[in-house]
Amino acid sequence: MKILVTGGTGYIGSHTCLALIAAGIEPVILDNLCNSKLSVLNRIEEISGKRPLFYQGDIRDSVILDRIFQEQSIAGVIHFAALKAVGESTQKPFEYYENNIAGTLSLLGAMRRAGCFHFIFSSSATVYGDPHAVPITEDFPRSTMSPYGQTKLMIEQMLEDMQTADPRWSMTLLRYFNPIGAHASGKMGEDPQGIPNNLMPYITQVAIGRRDCLNIFGNDYPTNDGTCVRDYIHVMDLAEGHVKAWQVCGEKAGLHIYNLGAGQGVSVLEMVRAFARASGMEINYKLVDRRPGDVAECWADPAKAQRELGWKATRTLDDMTRDSWLWQQTNPNGYEA
Ligand code: NAD
Ligand code: WQD
Repeated sequence: MKILVTGGTGYIGSHTCLALIAAGIEPVILDNLCNSKLSVLNRIEEISGKRPLFYQGDIRDSVILDRIFQEQSIAGVIHFAALKAVGESTQKPFEYYENNIAGTLSLLGAMRRAGCFHFIFSSSATVYGDPHAVPITEDFPRSTMSPYGQTKLMIEQMLEDMQTADPRWSMTLLRYFNPIGAHASGKMGEDPQGIPNNLMPYITQVAIGRRDCLNIFGNDYPTNDGTCVRDYIHVMDLAEGHVKAWQVCGEKAGLHIYNLGAGQGVSVLEMVRAFARASGMEINYKLVDRRPGDVAECWADPAKAQRELGWKATRTLDDMTRDSWLWQQTNPNGYEA
């Protein structure tokens, strides 16, 4: 069975390809490489023994999409391809709406033309905005604080409306919390370009000496130690969540919505300490002002995914920090071109 994986050379997509292959499913990747490298394919092959079929192209290009559906027998689509930097999206809203919204519409159009109605979408905890309570269940009200978040919300709405209008669709919305970590081999991991926006890659770059000091954004939040609390999830747990989602509801018509998180809140300072424990390295940090748009606490109630998908995160915080560090140490400059 073949699944089209858009954004499959990116961070979460590449790890999901490994999990799909391990489950006997053949990923067919479409990626324009705007935020990933071709050499990811070598690493997937090294680890799994299988090299995924790869199309270099854009989800906004209906010619390549139609060609893929003609050439391959695609059972369903897992749609990762998107621009994802929250801060950048406030500077370049057009690019975010165009890439993420127009790209998703173009993909859905090609699926309809090909008669493929099985869709899994990378949504995000960002659709919960500033939640009124934690842990967050799937029925919490949605709101958002950035153009990036707006694209996720709008796409969720589009998918719901399309499913209501045409019940042949299986629309699965997976809301990820904070994916970190790397494949346990150290051969695959997160490879941000430029200055990392996210906490874990910033910490590992301080540890390896690429950056001087971690800025901790705010220590006056109403949390135990004053720093923000998040739900970090190992990227391989997240990857396996996609396989479960495909197996349980991928081909079942309807709208299926799941939080994919570990269900445990971890503060920034706790993460810094966990990383020090795993790596034996002290992380140089300083406390600075809050980052605009951050919420104090955001963590999941993942019970629905456990109940209905039979999935739960099994890797610990120590696994996440150890694997991130191994990846950073063995690939100090990320992937080669
Ligand atoms: P990533 O940037 O590593 O991967 C995205 C991939 O999509 C990249 O390889 C990029 O080259 C490709 N891409 C982007 N636009 C494209 C286009 N128009 N056509 C073809 N390819 C295109 O990001 P990631 O962290 O792996 O995230 C994957 C998905 O998960 C995204 O939709 C993101 O919004 C979502 N998500 C990520 C996080 C996170 O913290 N990483 C959290 C929640 C949701
Ligand atoms: C985590 C915590 C920061 C960097 C983002 C997106 C979200 C989703 C996941 C896509 C926060 C603090 C960070 C640093 C710090 N992505 N921090 N110093 O903001 O929870 O979520 O990625 O959908 O939509 O918003 O993740 O890793 O950026 O931050 O103190 O240099 O670490 O303030 O409390 P965030 P993050």
